[in-house]
Amino acid sequence: MPSLLHSLLLFSSTPKPLLLANSPAYDGPVDANSPRPKSYHTITAISKTKSETKINNKDEDDYHATLKALNSKGRFPRKSLGQHYMLNSSVNEELVAAADVQEGDLVVEIGPGTGSLTNVLVDAGATVLAIEKDPYMAALVMERFSSLDHVKVLLEDFTKCHIRSHLSTISQSGRNSSGVKPQYAKVVSNLPFNISTEVIKQLLPMGDIFSEVVLLLQEEAAVRLVDSSSGSSEYRPINIFINFYSNPEYRFKVPRTNFFPQPKVDAAVVSFRLKQPVDYPPVSSAKSFFSMVNSAFNGKRKMLRKTLQHICPSLEIEEALVSAGLPPTARPEELALEDFVRLHNSIAKA
Ligand SMILES: *[C@@H]1O[C@H](CO)[C@@H](O)[C@H](O)[C@H]1NC(C)=O
Ligand SMILES: *[C@@H]1O[C@H](CO)[C@@H](O)[C@H](O)[C@H]1NC(C)=O
Ligand SMILES: *[C@@H]1O[C@H](CO)[C@@H](O)[C@H](O)[C@H]1NC(C)=O
Repeated sequence: MPSLLHSLLLFSSTPKPLLLANSPAYDGPVDANSPRPKSYHTITAISKTKSETKINNKDEDDYHATLKALNSKGRFPRKSLGQHYMLNSSVNEELVAAADVQEGDLVVEIGPGTGSLTNVLVDAGATVLAIEKDPYMAALVMERFSSLDHVKVLLEDFTKCHIRSHLSTISQSGRNSSGVKPQYAKVVSNLPFNISTEVIKQLLPMGDIFSEVVLLLQEEAAVRLVDSSSGSSEYRPINIFINFYSNPEYRFKVPRTNFFPQPKVDAAVVSFRLKQPVDYPPVSSAKSFFSMVNSAFNGKRKMLRKTLQHICPSLEIEEALVSAGLPPTARPEELALEDFVRLHNSIAKA
């Protein structure tokens, strides 16, 4: 990624006043209404010395500090990117606790924004790989953590980046002197809402490298994704997918008042404990399995013996359903994950 690295370097070397919350000039309570600092020069000078200031002052990621950090880049969060910044560091702490982040863990954070969650991850002892699509925010997080070599910032769109190779680079260099490296990485993220489904689809099948994916999602989506009871009107192929690759759990609700700009809906934290590949349901091919599931739901109100006709004759589908312990007239919403697995395997054998 030479070009990306290059652009990041350009960003971080631009001499701009550093109005970050962790700048020593902002010690103590921050008041958005207080006059701007008298001299930018002072702050620039301080920021250039790469001060040793500890960046775990709990007050620094409050409402005012977050707005100040955003303003320092002359911008407001773009709703078009689905960005909503967390204003309450207690929520970030709960998010990190939900992932049980321990000293030495390797954590991928998607969309670090102003770095408020990154900061809590660092405090918990994690090595953080932060992936940010927005160049301004990437530069901000880079500056903020420039003195720490266990925070890496990548200016990339997560949905397009090759997370495996980035991760292997980090975990190689992350080995400590005893040569031990963490076996599985975690993902902890306050995601832009419009990429949540995309991110889930990419991450859940990666149980060989991730143990846990903990995401802050829109509450409605969180409920829909975690509730896997067949028969509900919200039952979709994504529910089959999630349960195939993970054990999801709804953790807690996060009221909309904790975000800036305030979204129209509340959020919630969901954790996905990823299954390791040996624990996936036994299907000959995941691809053909999910292709069958998708076809089945294409005609949600229709019987499977109709919607799966392109795979094999109705009669064989009926027989497969019956041998899987289901009525020959079954519709997709009546089938739990295990039922689809049995159906797929007996059709595949037929
Ligand atoms: C999310 O929104 C941004 C900005 O509108 C857009 O560029 C991006 O493609 C969207 N992503 C998805 C998965 O819809
Ligand atoms: C911040 O989050 C905590 C924990 O969820 C909550 O108890 C508290 O009320 C929140 N603070 C504000 C100002 O909303
Ligand atoms: C290296 O990491 C392992 C696992 O995190 C830890 O138990 C060990 O104490 C570390 N060794 C050193 C020298 O830091």
